[in-house]
Amino acid sequence: MKKKCLLVACLVLFLLNNGMAFRNDPVPDSVWLFSYVTEKDKGRSGLRFAWSRNQQQWWSIGQDYGFVRSDYGRWGSQKRMETPYLLPGPDGRWHCVWSLNAEDRQFAHASSADLIQWGRQSYPFLEKGSNCQNPVVAYDTISGGYHIRYKDSYGRTYQCTTTDLKNYSAATEIPASQYTDLSRTIILPNGQYRGQVYKVAYRQVQQLEAAYERVQYRNALFNEHSGQDPQRFAGLQTVNARIAVQPEQSRSISNLLLGIFFEDINYAADGGLYAELIQNRDFEYTPSDKEGHDPNWNSLHSWSLRGQQSTWRVDTVRPIHPNNPHYIVLETRATGASLVNSGFDGIVVRKGARYTLSLYARQTTGKSKLQVQLVSKTGKLLAQTVLSVNSGQWKKLSAELTASEEATDAELQLLPLTTGNLHLDMVSLFPGQTFRNRPNGLRADLAQTIADIRPKFVRFPGGCVAHGDGLENIYRWKNTIGPLEARKPQRNLWGYHQTAGLGYFEYFRFCEDIGAAPLPVIAAGVPCQNSAVGGGGQQGGIPLAAMDDYIQDILDLVEYANGDARTTWGRKRAEAGHPAPFNLQYIGIGNEDLITDVFEERFRLIYQVMKERHPEITVVGTVGPFYEGTDYEEGWALARELQLPMVDEHYYQTPGWFIHNQDFYDKYDRNGPKVYLGEYATFVQGRRCNIETALSEALYLTALERNGDIVRMSSYAPLLAKEGHTQWNPDLIYFNNAEVKPTVSYEVQKLFGQHAGDTYLPVRMELSSQQDAVQKRIAVSVVRDSAGKDLILKLVNMLPVAVSTTLDLGGITLTGEAGKKIVLQGQPSDNNARPVTTAFSLPADGQEILPPYSFTLIQLTTK
Ligand code: AHR
Repeated sequence: MKKKCLLVACLVLFLLNNGMAFRNDPVPDSVWLFSYVTEKDKGRSGLRFAWSRNQQQWWSIGQDYGFVRSDYGRWGSQKRMETPYLLPGPDGRWHCVWSLNAEDRQFAHASSADLIQWGRQSYPFLEKGSNCQNPVVAYDTISGGYHIRYKDSYGRTYQCTTTDLKNYSAATEIPASQYTDLSRTIILPNGQYRGQVYKVAYRQVQQLEAAYERVQYRNALFNEHSGQDPQRFAGLQTVNARIAVQPEQSRSISNLLLGIFFEDINYAADGGLYAELIQNRDFEYTPSDKEGHDPNWNSLHSWSLRGQQSTWRVDTVRPIHPNNPHYIVLETRATGASLVNSGFDGIVVRKGARYTLSLYARQTTGKSKLQVQLVSKTGKLLAQTVLSVNSGQWKKLSAELTASEEATDAELQLLPLTTGNLHLDMVSLFPGQTFRNRPNGLRADLAQTIADIRPKFVRFPGGCVAHGDGLENIYRWKNTIGPLEARKPQRNLWGYHQTAGLGYFEYFRFCEDIGAAPLPVIAAGVPCQNSAVGGGGQQGGIPLAAMDDYIQDILDLVEYANGDARTTWGRKRAEAGHPAPFNLQYIGIGNEDLITDVFEERFRLIYQVMKERHPEITVVGTVGPFYEGTDYEEGWALARELQLPMVDEHYYQTPGWFIHNQDFYDKYDRNGPKVYLGEYATFVQGRRCNIETALSEALYLTALERNGDIVRMSSYAPLLAKEGHTQWNPDLIYFNNAEVKPTVSYEVQKLFGQHAGDTYLPVRMELSSQQDAVQKRIAVSVVRDSAGKDLILKLVNMLPVAVSTTLDLGGITLTGEAGKKIVLQGQPSDNNARPVTTAFSLPADGQEILPPYSFTLIQLTTK
């Protein structure tokens, strides 16, 4: 017996010594924590942890889960956390530094109190070394500060010091012997990794595991989709709902709740809403407009020369304006050749419609005649005219063309009728009829589709386009006003070219034309955090010395929009044809930026000046690209500290997220900054709009109406997408040159936009099913508009069964006139469903059936 006990004891000792302990054995107060990344994805999945009781047997925490990820630079190629180095600081926080890539002379730093919630990241620049590899951070008890030591690709070692991990001394070269890396190689069940090992309280590990489990649990909820409905709702029969409106609890809500987000993404502007039909009219396309520098994307893109009788070249010697340096020189030896523009995938020409042609021309060898023709792909002449070029100086010539035939693929041909040299630039063709017949206007069918939403505001020019890809690409409003030839075209960060023909003047005018408030969004002095250049975007903010000028530009914008026509910038607006002010009341500063020190410093400067100089303008701040996480937390903390009037939230999520987060704003502080939900959309696999996405948006919009006291504005994003040129899906409205194709989500936006209210009437809803999944898929919102007598009920049923409702209007008396009912319904995957409107009177018993997967809108007239 003794022998047996001894044997067992020996075995246990052997197992323990050899790391064969079991995970659930009682654990001591403290354990070992190992931090690491996987080399496979260059650390893109972030910092992982494993723990051990004996440093031999290790357990991963959350398998492949990264507790903090690098947010530096481009998605895809960057956002790498290479060789992270973790240190528990004397300030009670964990500090992590890491290398970003093999090129940049920067490292990253972030810190956390619990390894779960991480603070803002910074990417300090270093003056020494070819790059920054294997940075290590250590605390020096003697100096009371930290030093960061790193290597470069030549094997040299450097050091910089800091006391606050914000401001760093200049880097100096140090002997290699001073570089100490305490990293260890640990063998985990799935491989061998290098990282740091520290002793921590076991509670710490439990917290990390709980955080991971919470993420898993939420992911499961948020990934719910309608494909699971047959199982989820097996056996479910018609659900009964008693809905009692409570007019006595009415409260006022925002009268600006639904607007639109316009960004030049997916060819939304040039080739899209901007009615110009000529592509590369200014010969300013350049390879650098495209990521990877496409050599075919140049001044001659979309242009061709037909016939041997002429030669052509691009020149920059005497341009019309320095902002548009390139123009074409046609040398005609004998007539017969033509310069051809193929438009944006061809030009759509309507029979009998007028087109306005204009171009700048100059001849250097005597008077010229230029024939202008619209010709179909099959060679059919659709319209033509002849222009006389009499001047040796640039001169704008224009003509009207009327099409004799219909064509979807026409091209513009310019045929010199005389020999000699002809210089051409700003070759433009506009439909005679633009939206509201504005010159330099918008495509009428697209603009009307947008106007039909009845948006209460228009956000422009983005999105990421607003803050740009690197400092040079920040959208500068002054470059987009004035004569077209003097505007400054630029690279669009979505990989094409912006002519700026649709610029700030046109945006303001469109807002006015559709009765919407303008909401320009200006970069907060930092470019997009996903920029490829300039320190990963955020760290390369506008130099502080240049911030005064930058802020002056914003003040000038207010003057341009609202100033008297005698002011400097007000005069420019008047010269453009709009002496009356545009009544600008809102300005967004920043677009889902990383909330870094660099951002904050610049944002504070801008906000301070705006508050002092323009207290009448509501400044909208920004709180990152997600509904939670570091930027959201840090952005909100800054907004509360500064008492910002409003912040811009963004989130693109699954139907499950919207279903399970209808109470997102119910929990918000009613006394803090208000919310502008500036970008949101539901996506499903394949990223198409369908009934499922549209209904989850409708469900969420009822929650926004309920929270309309603090959610003051919202806009679905993105708005427009040209077929064949789409960088982002889903979008609200797809189009090609000939057709506009609104999505099911558009129908929901339109129904909410056209039936908005400024008073919310709470409801009490009792359902026959207590199943949480059922309860979360039925939503109701009731509003009234103080200007009218309409009562509007919006009822969403995301269940696969009907909901039989009994509506009790709580004593509100109706006129008895027929109201209307609009129903949008279909199978979840249906992407063609359209709303059907019928006359409607509420039956005496208040019964109304909501079909499976439907959105029902009821409008009744009250006494
Ligand atoms: O809406 C498309 C893009 O999504 C916007 O440009 C950007 O702000 C967001 O990431």
